[in-house]
Parts: sequence; C-alpha cells; structure tokens
Amino acid sequence: MNVETFEDLFGYQLQHAYYVERTHVELLSEMAADAPNEALGDCFDEHREQTDRQIDRLASVFEALGRQPRASRTRTIDGVVESWHQHGESADEPAVPTPLEIALMTERLEIRAYESLVMLAGRLAYADDVVEPLESNLAEERETLQALEELETELSVLETTAVEGT
Ligand SMILES: [Fe+2]
Repeated sequence: MNVETFEDLFGYQLQHAYYVERTHVELLSEMAADAPNEALGDCFDEHREQTDRQIDRLASVFEALGRQPRASRTRTIDGVVESWHQHGESADEPAVPTPLEIALMTERLEIRAYESLVMLAGRLAYADDVVEPLESNLAEERETLQALEELETELSVLETTAVEGT
C-alpha cells in the first residue's frame, strides 16, 4: 500500500488496528483459558467480549469511509502472540514475559494505535461516525490498562507479603 497522504496513512493504520484486534481476540481466548489466576482470567474474559465489540466498531469505521473492512498484518501483535506461546513452552525462563506483562504490552500498543488514529481523524476532519468508534475503543483500552496495572500492584503486594511471611 502506498502511503502518500494523511488519508492513506489513516487507512493503513486502520487496517493494522483491525488486524491487531482480530488477532488479540483469539489470543485473549487462549489467555483466559490458561490464566495463572482467577482475577487475571476474569479480566481476559471480560476484555475478550469487549474486543469483539471493538472489532465491530472498527468495521463501522471502514463502512463510514465507504470501504470493506480489511486487515493488514502487523508484526508487533505477532510478536506478542509469539511471547505467549513461548510462555507456554518455557514459563520459568526470566526472559519470557508473564501473561500479565503480555497483557500490559498489548494494551499499550493498542492505546498508541488508537491515539494515532484519533489524531489523524481530527486532522482529516472526519465525521463522528469515524471518530466516535475510535474514541470509544481508545477509552476502553485505557480502562483495561488501568485495571491491569491495579492487578499488577495487588499481585506484587501479595507476593511481597508471601515472601515476608516465609
Ligand atoms: Fe485491548
């Protein structure tokens, strides 16, 4: 795809976001089924349902632009999926990220993608039927990141208490 204008760039990033979310929804199913604890499993389950709705919102953005939804492969999320599979094979290796770290990474990359799309949509003066679904997805990703960060704090407090208790 040739990227020469902001419009091209927006289309390009939209196709990448669509790929990321469609890959992420599958990953979340696997991660929810195999989560190391219930709190994280519930969080993954909930976000999987939310991600399904986010995919529909992205499809509505394509539609608002008069285009068919299309996904373009992006290696960042492929790397995340690979990390998850590595986790299954060699979970004890310190270099392999934990499920929580994988989830945090994914939310951060999604937030960045939506921030960029919202900014470009503003520059291109796109209408609400393009901007609003992207803003809704961005808000949900930020909420999910916050929930994960709170979980991270809780879990590390528990771990510290467990270590101190031994
Ligand atoms: Fe997400």
